[in-house]
Amino acid sequence: MEEKISVLISKEQVENRIQEIADALSAEYAGRVVHLIGVLKGSVFFMCELAKRMSIPVTMDFMSVSSYGNATSSSGIVKLIKDLDEPIEGRDVVLVEDIMDSGRTLSYLVKLMSERKPASFKIITLLDKPERRIVEIEPDMCCFTVPDRFVVGYGLDCAQKYRNLPYIGVIEE
Ligand code: IMP
Ligand code: MG
Repeated sequence: MEEKISVLISKEQVENRIQEIADALSAEYAGRVVHLIGVLKGSVFFMCELAKRMSIPVTMDFMSVSSYGNATSSSGIVKLIKDLDEPIEGRDVVLVEDIMDSGRTLSYLVKLMSERKPASFKIITLLDKPERRIVEIEPDMCCFTVPDRFVVGYGLDCAQKYRNLPYIGVIEE
């Protein structure tokens, strides 16, 4: 069945906002190297666009977690699938996420990362859905706050589809 997707946040809006976040990070970390950590696979598009727009040196690493569940809701059990390639001790780490929903994934990752003693640690998310929060955790920077709807595009999927849409959309019922 062909699903209809309507645009929630346009490509221009997303890209302008990513530029703002990139400028803010470049100013805040001036003279330092930012170590971006992306959570696969959803954050990849956002992380690349962010990194391209930053004017300071950036290094990158990725990790992968799974939260068991079906296409649109998670069970709450988070499991590490792929760990980082490099240690983060003493580095200025910025964790890049696609969306904060219940907050379970990020609270798991924050705990894991803080045990590894980075010099500094920040969370940046493309989208935040605060209405759905179960675990008390907030991002340091967020591009857009979204309503409690299932969103796709710009890295976000529905059963692995739609990650490549250049905008944020919602699947029409
Ligand atoms: P949390 O652990 O509940 O905060 O869930 C975070 C993960 O659930 C995100 O990294 C996404 O992979 C996925 N997710 C949550 N909401 C959406 C959505 O609206 N669209 C697509 N994926 C979502
Ligand atoms: Mg994700």
